[in-house]
Amino acid sequence: MSIAISPSAEFPAALLQQLQQDFGLSVQADALGWYLCWNGEALVLRHTELPKQGDVLVDFCSGTAAWRRKHGGGKSEAIAKAVGLNKKSGLTVVDATAGLGRDALVLASCGAKVTLVERNPAVAALLADGLRRAAVHPDTADWLPERMQLVFAISHQALTELAAPDVVYLDPMFPAREKSALVKKEMQAFHQVVGSDEDADALWPLAWQLAQKRVVVKRPGYAEFLAGQKPTMQVEGKNNRFDVYVKAAL
Ligand SMILES: C[S@@+](CC[C@H](N)C(=O)[O-])C[C@H]1O[C@@H](n2cnc3c(N)ncnc32)[C@H](O)[C@@H]1O
Repeated sequence: MSIAISPSAEFPAALLQQLQQDFGLSVQADALGWYLCWNGEALVLRHTELPKQGDVLVDFCSGTAAWRRKHGGGKSEAIAKAVGLNKKSGLTVVDATAGLGRDALVLASCGAKVTLVERNPAVAALLADGLRRAAVHPDTADWLPERMQLVFAISHQALTELAAPDVVYLDPMFPAREKSALVKKEMQAFHQVVGSDEDADALWPLAWQLAQKRVVVKRPGYAEFLAGQKPTMQVEGKNNRFDVYVKAAL
């Protein structure tokens, strides 16, 4: 699905131009369905038939992500254990399916240096805007920019070109089992905007080739292994499991 930016008088002109240039996004005044727009402070993904409260944005400084960063389990969170941040700090991670950057933020706030690779132009633009705000926010300005870096690219290609990190992290879209209120609005937006990542199996051998220490794959508890590959170990999270493929000791 191709997403356009809806222009408005309030949209900072330089930012609008930058987003068009960096992510190849078009500007369209009368977009229908999902579109990107300016909410006064941030770039948001909005739907013409949903209220503004349904806006999807990347917010590393306040809201759920910041709460989790300040009060969450930190290095004892399942994702941090799966990546190995409970054993070794300062690991380098390529998050090859960055999405809205929530997992990357948890890893970065545990000390990892994360390269976020995202191929969807609208999602990459939301990430770039979240990083832009985090770079000037008093809670994050002094550490986040040096620990989170965005690469707008297709990981099938990027994983053959990037410098080898300690860990490659994968969280491709997986079809939700049931359509209930539990399937959050963000996930619904995501499914409609980015589709179902049906080419995800091909990421596994590339990730294994590039990672120096391990590959970590986030899956719903009921999902089969990515590319049919049996992991070395598994770490159970609250809503997901992390399949860990160990290549070398941390
Ligand atoms: C389930 S979401 C990831 C959510 C993310 N872990 C988070 O915490 O917000 C999957 C994302 O990976 C992206 N993606 C899937 N395959 C990709 C690929 N080959 N290259 C780059 N991005 C990819 C999709 O566009 C989507 O935004």
